[in-house]
Amino acid sequence: MSHPATILPAPGAATDSFVRLRGVNKHFNVDGRRLPILADFNLDVRRHEFIAILGESGCGKSTLLRLLCGLEENYAGQILVDGVAPKVGNDEAGIVFQDPRLFPWLSVAQNIALGLARFRPDRAGVQRRVEELVALVGLSGFENALPHQLSGGMAQRVALARAIVSRPAFLLLDEPFSALDALTRSQMHEQLLRIREAADLTMLLVTHDVEEAVYLADRVVVMAPQPGPLRASVEIGLPYPRVREEAAFQHERERLHALLAKDELIA
Ligand SMILES: Nc1ncnc2c1ncn2[C@@H]1O[C@H](COP(=O)(O)OP(=O)(O)OP(=O)(O)O)[C@@H](O)[C@H]1O
Ligand SMILES: [Mg+2]
Repeated sequence: MSHPATILPAPGAATDSFVRLRGVNKHFNVDGRRLPILADFNLDVRRHEFIAILGESGCGKSTLLRLLCGLEENYAGQILVDGVAPKVGNDEAGIVFQDPRLFPWLSVAQNIALGLARFRPDRAGVQRRVEELVALVGLSGFENALPHQLSGGMAQRVALARAIVSRPAFLLLDEPFSALDALTRSQMHEQLLRIREAADLTMLLVTHDVEEAVYLADRVVVMAPQPGPLRASVEIGLPYPRVREEAAFQHERERLHALLAKDELIA
């Protein structure tokens, strides 16, 4: 099954949404069985919106991100990112996978520089930009380290640096902070919000952490455990910078926890 190109609008056609999924169906074949992952799935993301995605393990969050950057091409329905069907090599998208996926024989700096390779920048330009990113993710002094010399959290920060080094307009993050300690994680939250402000990013972040979702996102969407529509889409109406200790923050967090505890469809 593949997407019917004929119903896609012309590339660059004006749509209200930066990301638009309409009636998306996605399944895998496992052991001769058809395993449905997304069924009649719809989602719209506004330009510059920051969406956090929550959902039980195995509900299809990573598959959704792979569809959005063109790594999964077998689906039915319509997926548009900035007016066009996503495909690998699209300069606009950066992705951090659930595991860091670094090249083991390349150093931290070389792994990050890979994110710039397709732009063929000059050597000095690469070095400058890589240095900036190394500092941004707190890895100064580890430029020449190899991936096996890093902790899981450090490796994940290299993956984040590689994803944003080319200043993409669209950033997909699959649980990028799950291996970090609480302090580093909250430092990364601040960095991410700064990056977002500076770069006018549209972002989708998969997380299992409700507090992280409320702290970072404009809107939190909850995927259903079974293939189907979203369970919930919740606007977080708090201004930035958000303060975790404030009553309004805790209220939003409790509201989401309560939604997650319910079984029924809320959206
Ligand atoms: N390439 C594949 N081939 C077959 N089945 C797959 C493939 N990729 C994912 N799946 C299946 O699709 C379902 C959704 O997987 P996915 O990785 O998207 O879940 P997830 O929501 O990201 O889960 P988690 O929170 O554990 O990361 C799972 O049942 C998984 O086994
Ligand atoms: Mg996943």
